[in-house]
Order: sequence, then C-alpha cells, then structure tokens
Amino acid sequence: MKVLSRTRIWNTIATALLLALISTTIQPTEACERQCQLNVSHAFADKYRLLSSQYFSTLSTKIDQSLFHGVPTTAYSSTEATNAILHLQEAVIKAQRSWDVSLFRMVFDTIFEDEPKFKGDCNEPHRVNQPSLGVNWTMADCHAMDYICGNPPSICHFMPMIKTRIERKLTDQLETKIGGSSGIVGGGVSEDGGGSADEADVYANFLGPALSKVVMTHPKLEVYQAAMHGNLNEILEIVRDQIVAEAAFLAPGAEPIKNERWRPEWDLEIKLLLLSFP
Ligand SMILES: *[C@@H]1O[C@H](CO)[C@@H](O)[C@H](O)[C@H]1NC(C)=O
Ligand SMILES: *[C@@H]1O[C@H](CO)[C@@H](O)[C@H](O)[C@H]1NC(C)=O
Repeated sequence: MKVLSRTRIWNTIATALLLALISTTIQPTEACERQCQLNVSHAFADKYRLLSSQYFSTLSTKIDQSLFHGVPTTAYSSTEATNAILHLQEAVIKAQRSWDVSLFRMVFDTIFEDEPKFKGDCNEPHRVNQPSLGVNWTMADCHAMDYICGNPPSICHFMPMIKTRIERKLTDQLETKIGGSSGIVGGGVSEDGGGSADEADVYANFLGPALSKVVMTHPKLEVYQAAMHGNLNEILEIVRDQIVAEAAFLAPGAEPIKNERWRPEWDLEIKLLLLSFP
C-alpha cells in the first residue's frame, strides 16, 4: 500500500516535469514573415545599391572624358558636345535606375527562393525560444540558431553566407548588364570575354538608343557615329573589368572571402533589423 502510493506520487511528479519541459522547450518559433522578408531584403538592397552606384558613376565620368575621342573638334560645337554628353549621361542614370529596381527582387530571391532557402521549420531541433510579444530576438538567439530555416535568428546567424550568395549573383548580373558577359562566378572569364558590350542591356537598351538620337539631332556627327560607338564600347569594357577585378574575392578558392567595400557597421544594422521581427 505504502509502496503503491509512493509510485503514484513519483508518476505524478514525472508527468508534471515532463509537461513543464514540453511547454517551455517545444514552443514553436515564428518565421521571418512577409513584412520581415520585405524589410530585410530592402535593407540589403539599399547597401548593394550604394556599392554598385560607383560603376554607373564611372560610366558617366568616362563618357564625359572620352565620348569624342577621335572625332575632330571641327565636327561639333562645344554646345553640341555638352548636349551629347548630357544625353548619354541621362541614359546612364536610366540604366542605373533599372538596375536599382531589379536589385531588390534579386536580393529577395537569393535569400528566400534560392536553395538552401531561408524558409521552413526552425523547431527541429529546437534552438531558440520565441520571445514574448513586443520583445526582440537577441544576439544570443542569432548565435544559437545554427541551421538554415525561416526565422530571423537563422538569417542573422548565416549573414556572411547570405552576403556571399548575394554578391556572387549581383556581380554576375551587373557584369552581364554592363559588359555582356559573366565569368567571375561561373569559373573564369572565357578567352573572348563571352558576349560583347553591344549586346549588354546597358548598351542595347540605354546608351545605343541615346547615341542614335544624338546623331539624329546632329547630322554632322553621323560620319563619326562608329567612332563614338567604339568609345562607348571601350568605356563599358573598362567598367566591366573593374567589376571583375573588384569581385576577385568571390572567385572559387579565393581567400579570404571578404568584400572590402562592405562597411562592418552594416552587419550590425541589418542584424538589429532582423532581430526586431519577433
Ligand atoms: C519595414 O518597412 C516598412 C515599409 O517600408 C516601414 O514602414 C517599417 O518602418 C519597416 N520596419 C522596420 C523595422 O524597418
Ligand atoms: C527592437 O529592436 C529595434 C531595432 O533595433 C529597436 O528600435 C527597438 O527599440 C527594440 N525593441 C525592444 C522592445 O527592445
């Protein structure tokens, strides 16, 4: 009789302990939901927009310096030159705007659609406790969430990997848009550099049509159209080479994998944003 009731007491205690354990440790953690995904993608895109703007600035500066190389100064007045340069620089701004718009989508897809994507269950195995309403995740959660899944601490934990993924894709796409080829990420630029700058988005859709318009409005320049076209091609190739050179840290096997232009404080800024989505 005495033994039996003691067993019952132990059973009760064991059950209570088990229940307590279940309720504290197996509390489901919530994912980086739509608003979190959008905000975080915007935060990354804003930084990369800043970093890629330098290439468009270089395009603009070089157009100013060398659009008229090889064209005799008797063929145009200084007003005509100024107008032509401005017109092409406006085309660069349009190309940059189109790039800026595509950046957000690219960042979003890289984090949330490309494999391994930051989506899915973060409770198997259990690593972090869902904060109560109005309380942020912590840096400790960021440290503890050591596998890829859909909650903000997981994205925070894998920030270096996410940056590398974005930078590979970004370099590839920017190189293609400006230079017509991509090589750095896929494993080396081919002998002839792949496609030509003429076929690249920036020339085909922006600079090329702008040059045609300049020649149309200044018929005297028509005989020099090929020369100006060649100058633009050279400028695009210079910028393409600059992109490739600066992305050398992304080449397979390169060490250390580090983007020198990414400011260290941006990591913290984006992590704090992530952790603010409990
Ligand atoms: C998220 O984005 C929305 C809309 O752009 C903005 O109003 C909000 O302040 C952002 N939240 C955070 C935490 O950055
Ligand atoms: C949560 O994090 C955000 C962003 O860092 C901060 O502005 C806010 O004050 C934090 N909220 C709490 C309750 O700590």
